[in-house]
Amino acid sequence: MSIPENIHPTFQNLLGRKGKESLLRQHGLVVWLYGLSGSGKSTLAIALEQRLHEDRILTQVLDGDNVRVGLNKNLGFSDDDRLENIRRISEVAKLFVQAGVVTIASFICPRNELRAIARKIIGQEDFFEVYVECSFETCKQRDVKGLYAKANTGQVKQFTGMDSSFEPPEPRDLADLILNTNIQTESESLQQLYQSIRPRVLLEK
Ligand code: ADX
Repeated sequence: MSIPENIHPTFQNLLGRKGKESLLRQHGLVVWLYGLSGSGKSTLAIALEQRLHEDRILTQVLDGDNVRVGLNKNLGFSDDDRLENIRRISEVAKLFVQAGVVTIASFICPRNELRAIARKIIGQEDFFEVYVECSFETCKQRDVKGLYAKANTGQVKQFTGMDSSFEPPEPRDLADLILNTNIQTESESLQQLYQSIRPRVLLEK
């Protein structure tokens, strides 16, 4: 990490992650959900949080629309702004994970380069990459927020999958898990996600 001039970080004096994890009796992990708008990321993030909460696991959801009304309200949807969006979210996720929290991030995060940046900031061992796969056609039909209709008539610019690109994981096994919400029900996807996460976050007794 490069440190700007006249800045003196004090990382070595901070209470360590291990102590916090043993207090919480869990391992911190970032569950990084990404995919097209309407693919089911937020629904799965909320459902996973609820399920883990029932297991008494402390979580924090970071979600695109929520973060964009606060921390990232000065950012739009150009390539540069999407990069800055993901960079800031990754730094925030890293703070949570170092406090032992299971952090569920839900963002379009449309390019392989952006996912690589997130993985690099957060660290490979704390980064669980989940591609929420769903065809553009299905997302457009669902159109939960009415944005596909607006993008069609030019009322929303730089819309992902239309005039702004979305790249699936390349190679596909870069993703630790792929959930296809075209063919799975919400509860099937949740079950698969929960089963993959649970062993990673439980602290061995
Ligand atoms: S990302 O590409 O930078 O990762 P992010 O997940 O933060 O995107 O925000 C996506 C959300 O912003 C969508 O779920 C949608 O509600 C809203 N949105 C508004 N304008 C756009 C746009 N042009 N493209 C995609 N999503 C948009």
